[in-house]
Parts: sequence; structure tokens; C-alpha cells
Amino acid sequence: MDVPVIPNTGRILDVWLGGQHHTSADHEAAQLFSGIYERFPEVFQTLRQYIVRASQQLHQQGIDRFLVLGAGIPSCGNVHEAVPNARVLYTDIDPYNIELGKQLLENTSRADYSYCDANDFSTCDKDALRQVLETSDTSPIGYVVVGITVFMRDEAVSALFQSLYEHAPAGSRVIFDLDSHALSHFPEALAILGDNFHMRTPEDFATLIQPWRVSEPGIQPVQSWNNHQPNTDLPVFMYGGIAKK
Ligand SMILES: C[S@@+](CC[C@H](N)C(=O)[O-])C[C@H]1O[C@@H](n2cnc3c(N)ncnc32)[C@H](O)[C@@H]1O
Repeated sequence: MDVPVIPNTGRILDVWLGGQHHTSADHEAAQLFSGIYERFPEVFQTLRQYIVRASQQLHQQGIDRFLVLGAGIPSCGNVHEAVPNARVLYTDIDPYNIELGKQLLENTSRADYSYCDANDFSTCDKDALRQVLETSDTSPIGYVVVGITVFMRDEAVSALFQSLYEHAPAGSRVIFDLDSHALSHFPEALAILGDNFHMRTPEDFATLIQPWRVSEPGIQPVQSWNNHQPNTDLPVFMYGGIAKK
């Protein structure tokens, strides 16, 4: 596959996480955003640490299979590294991320990467779901919906969570995040991201994802979610939480 000339947010995160799987266009875009706010790398490192803590907590609660939507690059502490014994299916719509992801996971028997458009859950590759998650199994699934609803309209977020609810065995959980209005202080960044960038409040988000019910400790800044040593001087760009069926 040709190396893409358009940057992708998953690979921009790879730049900021110190990964090796991005293009020069991704690197340039990462530098452009860091020039607007020099702490963006730290913000997204904090988001990845949240994914690690949340997926490990679910694993401690007995969940050993995960479906990750809008996954980006499966490295730098992503779910199968945070929970090495779990079965993990990563999905995305970006063909280059899918190809890179498949290469990265070639020798990892319990994880794979395939297509799924979060705007239409029926597009998820059924064979991959069956093979990796063994969907005939009725034990709970951990869904990971992080870094993606910000690019979705309210109706699409609501439809996705409804589809996941119908797909989920009882006891399943969703690890989610939402973007606060903090980016309003950086109009240059917002101008690059355009109209397709949706900032929300925790209250509005909890309503959008019903019938999923948010578990204790509720929706918290990602840096302090289940973290006893939070980085408190970082603005709250994202909130996170776990919701249960
Ligand atoms: C900001 S990155 C998040 C990556 C990862 N979840 C994380 O938090 O580190 C967003 C990812 O969502 C993917 N994406 C964008 N729209 C999507 C859609 N409709 N369905 C699935 N993936 C999508 C992008 O290709 C990108 O890899």
C-alpha cells in the first residue's frame, strides 16, 4: 500500500506516544498541533494511560475479550499490551492503520485487526468478530470507544451505543471518553479540526449512551480516573468512564 499523504489522528497520537508507526505527514501534523499547545503530547499520553488502567480494571473484574473501535496503532500500551492474556480485536476505518495493525500483530495469537466503521456497527467484520472474540461465548465483552466519539454527531454516538448494547452479552462494559470544551481555548486547533469536532459535557454524554449505565466512580477527568497520583496541572481535555450493561 502507498504511504498516505493525509495525516491520521491515530498515527498523530503514535508520534506523541513515542511510537514508530506513522508517516511524515502525521509527524508534520503532530508538530503543527504541538506548536499551538506544547502539552498535547502529554494530554494524549495521559489518555493512553487511562486506557491501560481501565482495561486492566475490567480484566481484574473477569473480562478477557475486548473489541476496540477507532483503535489507531496497536502499540505503546494499547489494550493487548495492557492485558496480555486477553483476546483483542482492534478495528478502524483507515486502511493504512488496518494494514500496519495487522503487521504489528502478526505474531500475536490472541489479537487481530480488522475493519469497522463506528458510524455503522453492522460493517464490523463478522468473521473477525467470531474468530477473535469467539462471539458464541456469552461471557461479557469489554468495548473500548476512546478518541473517536469526538468525531461523531450526537445521533451517531447514540446509534453506536445502542448497537453495542444489542451486541453485548449481559455484564459487558464500555470504556469511553469524551472531549470537554477545553479546546475552545485553542481556536487555531479547532479551525484545523473543523465542524466535525464535537465537544460535550459529561452529563450530556451519559444521556447519549443510554441504556448503558455509568459505573462508579462516574465520569472523571481521564488523568484522575482510578489514579491516585493524577497530573493535576494538566487542563481537562477529556473525561472518561466505564458503563455497564
Ligand atoms: C484519535 S484516534 C484514537 C486512537 C485510539 N483509540 C487511542 O485513543 O489512542 C481516532 C481513530 O479513529 C479512527 N476513526 C475515525 N473515524 C472512524 C469511524 N467512523 N469508525 C472507526 N474508526 C474511525 C481514525 O482512523 C483514528 O485511528
